[in-house]
Amino acid sequence: MSQYAVVGNPVKHSKSPRIHSLFASQTGMELAYTAIQLKPENFEAGVRKFFADGGAGLNVTVPFKEKAFLLADSCSERARLAQAVNTLCVDGDGALIGDNTDGVGLVRDIKGNHQFEIRQRRILLLGAGGAVRGALSALVAEDPAEITIANRTPGKALQLKAEFGHLADLTAVGFGELDATAFDLVINGTSLGLEGKLPPISKAVISSACCCYDMVYADSDTVFVRWARDNGAVLALDGLGMLVEQAAESFAIWHGLRPQTLSVISQLR
Ligand code: ATR
Repeated sequence: MSQYAVVGNPVKHSKSPRIHSLFASQTGMELAYTAIQLKPENFEAGVRKFFADGGAGLNVTVPFKEKAFLLADSCSERARLAQAVNTLCVDGDGALIGDNTDGVGLVRDIKGNHQFEIRQRRILLLGAGGAVRGALSALVAEDPAEITIANRTPGKALQLKAEFGHLADLTAVGFGELDATAFDLVINGTSLGLEGKLPPISKAVISSACCCYDMVYADSDTVFVRWARDNGAVLALDGLGMLVEQAAESFAIWHGLRPQTLSVISQLR
């Protein structure tokens, strides 16, 4: 049976094995998908062993996506822009091929699952770490009117503007520099939610027809989702749909088949 896995640390609570097994039964494929925890110093050896033992595909999660990018012998343009890889496979010569399906997963959830059009909308991205970097090229490809990146450390937002600015109209600011402008789509890519905290921004960023999206998810509403709903967002979404959509894109890369995602999202809820 073909072997697939997700590598991360910690990885015990990963939903990826469940998602891929639901995709497999839906599409009538036989595969094994496990979760492998690796110590940072064993990441490269662990990946090489997985493929040397006949593994067919790996997902990579926190904190290894940047390491996977450096390890890959070649990678897609979207992974190069993200400087992070979440999907690995090997070609016939044993070379490691990397891709990044996070950004397309985010966009498919917002546009496909929630019918929220991104084209010509004003986007506010909160954070400038790996999550935002991974999402940027897919958002830019939707041709938004503008993208503002706000981050605690403005220099990191400026760095993203320098790297992605040739692709779109990007503005980089610190949280304190956000004026009272309202946005159509506000995406939280900070790790603050993990501590139960909100980015320090005013509710004035929420326009009358605004979609707010938290890139993380939890068993109940995240603080950002609650904040968005309490302050009038038309859509207040967490990142569970993005998780399933990025998995579907990885599944399509490996198997050449695109699974249905909505039933999987509702089963996970
Ligand atoms: P990830 O891969 O999850 O994006 P990361 O690359 O460490 O993780 O990025 C975390 C993001 O959350 C960054 O934008 C970080 O802001 P800084 O660049 O200023 O560090 C943001 N973040 C984390 N803790 C924060 C806090 N207490 N207040 C504001 N922003 C915070």
